[in-house]
Amino acid sequence: PIIFIITPTYYRLVQKAELTRMANTLRLVKQLHWIIVEDFEVINLKTQEFFQSTGVSFTYFAQSKRSETNNHHRGADQRNAALDWIMVNHNPSMPAVIYFADDDNAYSLEIFQQMRYTKKLSMWPVGLSGGRTYETPILKDGKVIKFLAWKAEKRKFPIDMAGFALNANVLWTYKPMRFSTDADPGMLETKLLERCCTWAEIEPLADNCTKILVWHTRTEKPKVRMFDNVLEV
Ligand code: UGA
Ligand code: MN
Repeated sequence: PIIFIITPTYYRLVQKAELTRMANTLRLVKQLHWIIVEDFEVINLKTQEFFQSTGVSFTYFAQSKRSETNNHHRGADQRNAALDWIMVNHNPSMPAVIYFADDDNAYSLEIFQQMRYTKKLSMWPVGLSGGRTYETPILKDGKVIKFLAWKAEKRKFPIDMAGFALNANVLWTYKPMRFSTDADPGMLETKLLERCCTWAEIEPLADNCTKILVWHTRTEKPKVRMFDNVLEV
């Protein structure tokens, strides 16, 4: 199966640094297509040139925020646009897996090999997420029985975006699979997964959720005093 990586991104000083780091990971993964959606009216041609230089198979387009009400859901409209792109451009009879990979997280190579065979919904722990050292499904006899996570009582699938992958065929089986931009803060992931999946269907990865293979890292906003506007950052 091919892996579709969906990455919303937006212009800020660290954007190129984040995308460089991410490309350096993704270029080591075979059979992968990177869908990068710029949160703006138009794409940045310099950024497009950068993607071309990486050698990673990619599609890059722009999707601006659709409304002001979804400010607390960073990247939601962009991810929905990427899901639309897959439905238009991918032949559903070909096996494929979808992973929502934000540009600032840290990813091991192993997780891509493991998620590639996702039958419907696979999950694994996410380090440094939800105000804990990690958030994770808790298993008993290989099945998910609860979650160690922020607001686990209130969210059916209390897991960060970086902690699951979906088989692409859910896009056609459970139309329309979209992020609801009017969801309360923190409810984006669970609301999407509730449309298609049950706990019993979760395939635990990362050695039965005992390994941390992805980290919800966040990059500090640089404190620059001077803008030297000659070189592109
Ligand atoms: C957490 C989750 O990890 C995100 O998957 C979720 O979208 C987000 O909360 C949310 O619900 O708002 P967090 O680290 O707080 O993530 O968010 P960011 O990393 O700042 O943004 C998530 C993604 O959206 C990134 O790839 C970022 O580049 C992109 N983004 C962010 C935009 O496209 N536009 C923005 O204005 C901000
Ligand atoms: Mn982030």
